[in-house]
Amino acid sequence: MQVASSLPTRKFDVVIVGAGGSGMRASLQLARAGLNVAVLSKVFPTRSHTVAAQGGIGASLGNMSEDNWHFHFYDTVKGSDWLGDQDAIEFMCREAPKVVYELEHFGMPFDRNADGTIYQRPFGGHTANYGEKPVQRACAAADRTGHAMLHTLYQQNVKARTQFFVEWMALDLIRDADGDCVGVTALEMETGDVHVLHAKTVLLATGGAGRIYAASTNAFINTGDGLGMAARSNIPLQDMEFWQFHPTGVAGAGVLLTEGCRGEGAILRNINGERFMERYAPTLKDLAPRDFVSRCMDQEIKEGRGCGPNKDYIQLDMTHLGGDTILKRLPSVFEIGHNFANVDITKEPIPVVPTIHYQMGGIPTNINGQVVVPKGDDYKIIVEGLYAVGECSCVSVHGANRLGTNSLLDLLVFGRAAGNHIVDRLAKEAKAHKPLPKNAADFSLARLARLDASQSGEYAQDVANDIRNAMQQHAGVFRTQKTMDEGVVKINAIRERVKAITLKDKSKVFNTARVEALEVDNLIEAAQATMTSAAARHECRGAHTVKDYERAADDADFPLGRNDKEWMKHTLWDSATNGLSYKPVNLKPLTVESVPPKVRTF
Ligand code: FUM
Repeated sequence: MQVASSLPTRKFDVVIVGAGGSGMRASLQLARAGLNVAVLSKVFPTRSHTVAAQGGIGASLGNMSEDNWHFHFYDTVKGSDWLGDQDAIEFMCREAPKVVYELEHFGMPFDRNADGTIYQRPFGGHTANYGEKPVQRACAAADRTGHAMLHTLYQQNVKARTQFFVEWMALDLIRDADGDCVGVTALEMETGDVHVLHAKTVLLATGGAGRIYAASTNAFINTGDGLGMAARSNIPLQDMEFWQFHPTGVAGAGVLLTEGCRGEGAILRNINGERFMERYAPTLKDLAPRDFVSRCMDQEIKEGRGCGPNKDYIQLDMTHLGGDTILKRLPSVFEIGHNFANVDITKEPIPVVPTIHYQMGGIPTNINGQVVVPKGDDYKIIVEGLYAVGECSCVSVHGANRLGTNSLLDLLVFGRAAGNHIVDRLAKEAKAHKPLPKNAADFSLARLARLDASQSGEYAQDVANDIRNAMQQHAGVFRTQKTMDEGVVKINAIRERVKAITLKDKSKVFNTARVEALEVDNLIEAAQATMTSAAARHECRGAHTVKDYERAADDADFPLGRNDKEWMKHTLWDSATNGLSYKPVNLKPLTVESVPPKVRTF
C-alpha cells in the first residue's frame, strides 16, 4: 500500500480533469498562452463523451434563415423555463458566432452550403422572431458534430503541447487551510499508483453523471466524477433535480438518434400513424423543446397510443426524407438504425423512447468558470484555484431544460472563457504554487485502503445497478410526490451500502474493478443530490414535471404548474448533511432587457 509521504508528486500551472470539449477548449487556451497544463482523462481524449454529440452547435450565424443572438437568447431563456441566469445566457448567445468561426479556423470539417458558408439545420426550441417559426441555427458536421469537434480540438492541443494523462482517474480535490484548491489526487490506472498533481489552478471538466440512470444515452464513463469530487469537498451541487430526457433514444438500446433527424424533417408518429405533436405544439410541432416532446411521447404511450406489441414506444419516421438526404446529413443515424434496431430508416420508421441524456445542474460557477459557494446572503464566494466548465458545471445557462445544440456551445464558450480568465489571473498576479497541505492525499488513500482491506460486502456493480434502477423508477419523465419521497428513502439506504462495497480483486495493474468501485462513490453523490432536490421542489418546471402540481396552461397563478412566487430559485444540495438551501435566479442580463416569465407554449 502506498503511503502519503512517498507519493509521486508533479507540479503544473493548471490541471484539467476531463478531456471532452470543454476541457480541451480550456486547455488549448492555456497551452497556447505558454502555461504548463496537464489534462487527465479516464479514456483517450477523442473517446470522451463529447464524441457522441451529433446534431450541431447553436449559433445565430444566419447563414440559411434570418437570425440574431437576441432570438437565441430569448429561446434559451424560455427553454430554461426561466430558471437560467440571464447574464450567463446573454454571454453565451453573444459569444456563439465567435467560437464557431474560431472552431472553423481550427479546421473543423463543418458541412457547407453551396456558397461555402457553414450548413445550419433547425433544432428543437430554436426559433426566429421570438417563437414565430423554427430557425436554422445548428451548425453541423453531418450527424457527427461532437466527433468532429473533439478531433479538431485534440489536434490543436497536440500542436500547442498540452500534456495528456490518458487512463488516469482523478480521485479528490486537494484544498488547503484557506479552502483554496491546490491540486488533485489521481489514480494511474495502468499501474494502480496514486499520484499528487500540485497545481496553481484546477479545472473540472468531467461531464455529466448520466450513468446514474438505467436507460441513458451517456457513455459508461459518465459517472459524475467531478460532481463527486466537489461534493466530498463541501461544495454544494446546484439544480440537480433537472435531468433531460432526449425524445429519441433507440427503444431498448438507449443509443441517441439526434434531434437533427427532426431538424431534417423526421416525424414522430403514434400507433395510428398520427403526427401527434401537431396537437400539442401547433407552431413548432416535432421541433418543440425536449422536455415538452418527451412528455407528449410519454402521454401518448400512457394513453394507449404507443407502438409495438406492448404499445411502449413511438415511431420516428424518416422514410419521406429520401436515401440521398439521409446518407448525406444523417449517415450515423442510418448505421445506428441497422446496428441497434435492425431497421433500414430509409424504408421504415424506427422505434424510439425518451431516454436520459443530460444533466442541467452541476457545480455552481460564475461566467468565468470560477466555482462559487454561498456564505450567508452572498452566493458568489469564489473557491480560489478551482474552476468548472461543461456539463459538470452549472453556470446556469440551461436552467430547468436545455435546448439541443446549446451543450456543444456551452463547452466552447465557457471552456474558452475559463481558459482566458485563468491565463489573465496567473499572468497578472504572477501566482506561485501555494504549498500542499501535509495531509494532501490522506483522504484518497483512506478510500483506497478501505477497499483493499474489505473482506466481505457487496460488489460495486450490484450497488450501482440498484442506484440506476431506483433513479429510473423514482425520477423519470413524469414524477409524483409519492414516488420521489420513496426514492429519497431508497437512495439514502443505498448510500449506506456504498460505504460497505467490497473489492474482491485487489490487484493493482489495470484493475477496472477498483475504478468502478471508486466511481460508485461519485454516482451516489449525483443520485442523492438529484433525488433529494427533486422531492423538495413542489412545482413543475422544465424537465421537472410532477403530476401532483400539474395545472392548465391558462392557470393565471401557476401556468402549467410552474410556481414562480415560491420556486423561481436555484437549489443547492449539500452532501455532508443531505440538506438543501436555495439561491435567487439572476434575471439581469448584461446589456439588454430581461425576458419576463410567461407560459411556455409552442
Ligand atoms: O440530438 C442531438 O444531436 C443532441 C444534441 C445535444 O444534446 O445538444
